[in-house]
Amino acid sequence: MKDLIPKYLDEIKSFTADSQEQLENFRVKFLSKKGIIPGLFAVLKDIAPEDRKEMGVLLNELKNSALEKVNELKSGLEEQAGKKIDVIDLTLPANFSTLGSKHPLSIVRNDIINIFSRIGFTVAEGPEIEDDWYNFSALNFPEEHPARDMQDTFFIEKKPDTVLRTHTSSVQIRVMEKQKPPIRAIFPGRVFRNEAISARAHCIFHQVEGLYIDENVSFADLKQTLYYFATEFFGAGTQIRLRPSFFPFTEPSAEMDISCFICHGKGCKICKKTGWVEILGCGMVDPNVLENCNIDSEKYTGFAFGMGIERIAMLKYQIDDIRLFFENDVRFLKQFESTHS
Ligand code: PHE
Repeated sequence: MKDLIPKYLDEIKSFTADSQEQLENFRVKFLSKKGIIPGLFAVLKDIAPEDRKEMGVLLNELKNSALEKVNELKSGLEEQAGKKIDVIDLTLPANFSTLGSKHPLSIVRNDIINIFSRIGFTVAEGPEIEDDWYNFSALNFPEEHPARDMQDTFFIEKKPDTVLRTHTSSVQIRVMEKQKPPIRAIFPGRVFRNEAISARAHCIFHQVEGLYIDENVSFADLKQTLYYFATEFFGAGTQIRLRPSFFPFTEPSAEMDISCFICHGKGCKICKKTGWVEILGCGMVDPNVLENCNIDSEKYTGFAFGMGIERIAMLKYQIDDIRLFFENDVRFLKQFESTHS
């Protein structure tokens, strides 16, 4: 027995395992109940008492080195198994990150810009914080006009002359002050009104303004331009109708409806059974406005129009709550694809 122990010790020390199975066989061979080491312990009692103590020490050594070996190989094998999982499998399909999409308001704004740029309109922008002159006075709003009222306009605190613009018409003045006719431009931008937020109204929204000033610009030019826009945006066969209206900065003024592109005039929820939907305000630029910008109103005439981007987008995509545009819920946003590039 004394001779056997070094032999087993060698076997244990030099053992390696490539698999859990090999390791388990090793463990069973040496350490299980019927294994070699418990077997040797079992015969310890038969050994002469003077040798027993020494043998006991040797056997314990043997047992400990077997236990150590099992633990060492076990953690080695586990580590290897873990590493295998980390190895990159190049045959797996790639994990594509999802692409963002354009906001519906951007799509509609870009579509409008494209349509007007094809007939020679350039794009200009003006500031969102304006003074009374650009937002009201130069646009021929009388001193007591209700649109100047606190209910509609956000005034900058302590600077009552300074407002958040209530419409993009202010950019008309900025452009006409700097540039002399011919002027043919559109002005997209954000506007602000002190209104309660609901499904139909928001205190922040977007408009696109149009301005065309030259010699001999007539109401017929306005009509033709808007007819072109309506058919390009809402599709061939779209009809337009102009209803008399009032704006301080245009004379005559009108509101334009398009034939309902959902029911084609038969009457539906979108057109409230009338067959028509209102999409913009327009008119011939009031001579007072031209004069306020030092443009000779005897020589030049022009037209202007303004439309709400949210309103057009709600019609186009049949969205019934304006608040959705500002919540930026990805589930809402990812549904929109541009029809024009
Ligand atoms: N500024 C007007 C509005 O916000 C729209 C408009 C623009 C009307 C240009 C006529 C001419 O309602």
